[in-house]
Amino acid sequence: MSVTMAVLASGNGSNLQAMIDAIREHRLDAELRIVISDQPKAYALERAKAGKIPTALIASKERAVFEQELASQLRQSGAEWIVLAGFMRILSAPFVAAHRNRIVNIHPSLLPLFPGKDAIGQAWRAGVTETGCTVHYVDEGVDTGPIIRQTKVAIQPGDTLETLTERMHHAEHQLYVEVLRMISEGTI
Ligand code: GRF
Repeated sequence: MSVTMAVLASGNGSNLQAMIDAIREHRLDAELRIVISDQPKAYALERAKAGKIPTALIASKERAVFEQELASQLRQSGAEWIVLAGFMRILSAPFVAAHRNRIVNIHPSLLPLFPGKDAIGQAWRAGVTETGCTVHYVDEGVDTGPIIRQTKVAIQPGDTLETLTERMHHAEHQLYVEVLRMISEGTI
C-alpha cells in the first residue's frame, strides 16, 4: 500500500510537479491525497487539478482559523505525511507538535546556512562557491528542524543568479522525490 501525502504550496509548484511526474512514471510509490494552498493564484493549484489531485484553498489570514481549517482538511484527506513545497506560512508550535516528525520541508540552501527567505540570493550575495538544498523535518523554528538529506550545488565562475537558480530548482526536484521515495519505502 502506498504512503499517503498532503502537499502544501503557496506558489509555482514546480516541486509538486516533480512529485506528480515521479508518481506517474512509477519512480515514486505515493498517493497525493490533497494539495492545499493559502494563495488563490498559486500555480500549484492548477498543476494539482491537471494531475487530478483534490485541492483546497485556505485563505484566512488569521493563523488560528487557518490552522483549524488546515487540520480539518488534512484529517479528511487521511494523509499520513505533510509535505511543504514552497509553502510560505509559518506553522504554529501546537500544530507542529501535533504532527511531529510527519511534516517535511525543502529549503534551497545547505542549512543551517541561509535560512529564511531568498536563500538562493543570500548565498549568491555571500559569494560562496557552493550552496545546495536541504530536506528537513519541520520543527517550531524557521528552517531549523532535523536535516534528512542535502544535495550540494556548485556555484560556477560563469553563473548568474538566474543560471544558479535554475540548477538549484533541478537539484531540489531530484532531492525531494528521492527523500519521498525513502519515506514511501519506510527507510526514513
Ligand atoms: C523552492 O525553492 C523551495 O525550496 C522553497 O520555495 C521554492 C518553491 O518552488 N521553499 P516551487 O513552488 O516548488 O516551484
